[in-house]
Amino acid sequence: MEATTVPKVQKHYPVLLKEIISIITPQYGGTFIDCTFGQGGYTKKILEFENTKVIGIDRDVESRKRANQIKEKFEDRFIFKNIRFSQLNNLKLKHEEIRGIIFDLGYSYTQIKDAKKGLSFESIGNLNMQMGLNTYSAEDAVNKLDEKELEKIFKFFGEEKESKFIARNIIKERLKNKIDTQTLVKIIDRTKRKKNFKVHSATKVFQALRIFVNKEISELILGLINASKILKKGGVLGVVTFHSLDDKIVKYFFKSLSENKSISRYSPAIEQPEILFNLIKKKPILPSDKEISENQPSRSAKFRYVIKKTDFYNFNTDIKDQFSDLIKIENYGDKL
Ligand SMILES: C[S@@+](CC[C@H](N)C(=O)[O-])C[C@H]1O[C@@H](n2cnc3c(N)ncnc32)[C@H](O)[C@@H]1O
Repeated sequence: MEATTVPKVQKHYPVLLKEIISIITPQYGGTFIDCTFGQGGYTKKILEFENTKVIGIDRDVESRKRANQIKEKFEDRFIFKNIRFSQLNNLKLKHEEIRGIIFDLGYSYTQIKDAKKGLSFESIGNLNMQMGLNTYSAEDAVNKLDEKELEKIFKFFGEEKESKFIARNIIKERLKNKIDTQTLVKIIDRTKRKKNFKVHSATKVFQALRIFVNKEISELILGLINASKILKKGGVLGVVTFHSLDDKIVKYFFKSLSENKSISRYSPAIEQPEILFNLIKKKPILPSDKEISENQPSRSAKFRYVIKKTDFYNFNTDIKDQFSDLIKIENYGDKL
């Protein structure tokens, strides 16, 4: 579970940087896409190698400040786009051959520190949680969705066991008051019977709302599909996840496109789709004890990667069907 408290570390810390660089090998040059530019930790490291180019993407317009600093130093080797990574297919890549595409999911230290974003339950004021280029906030969700919808969001995106009672108490409270961050924290605290003293009682609900507001499930699925289309043969696609839902999606996507499905010998012979990826390691790469001791939030990070085997730019995947229940829940937001 990703904690939504402001971390104790005092600076931004790119997770698993050494490991990722050793896998994407920028020392051989080429063009890379950093789909979650943030504070530019990965981008800057890649650009330090000659003959590299980076296209940095972030939905948060605040990232542009850091992007401008990097641009000053690396000029024509770096481009920044303030878009969502689900829109990767809109990039005009001309004849650019993409050697590596990296996603580092979740939010940055700078975002969690920013009280206006309201990502942390320690923030005072509006329930916002928009990372950028959103259409509704967490405040819209808790004040407008119905009880069943809120329950499902907390249950499926936060694995919150007491989702039903929390949703019911939100509905009762909002008849009297608009729900802001502090009110929501109080409702959760009051409602939860089983307290875990190591994890704040609001952690799961806050994670769930952040996933919902930023449509993180659909973003990831579309991001992975579009990235796989634009990557060149031999290129690396890698993702750092911080919670089990994201990791499940990445694991399924990589595995399902790396091997043939086993078919019963009694079934009629069908043509197997071509395999898109080489999955080098089945298990994810985790941060070392040293990294975790220096940067506590890295403790839940998992890095998975694949290498594209073919020159296909179009392929079939059933990933949307596999996770259709979660996509349906995210779509409650369409009416907000
Ligand atoms: C964990 S931070 C990345 C930190 C970065 N690797 C670094 O070293 O500075 C995640 C970043 O991804 C961005 N982000 C999250 N979802 C996104 C999406 N769907 N499209 C584009 N950017 C996204 C967030 O705004 C945030 O800046």
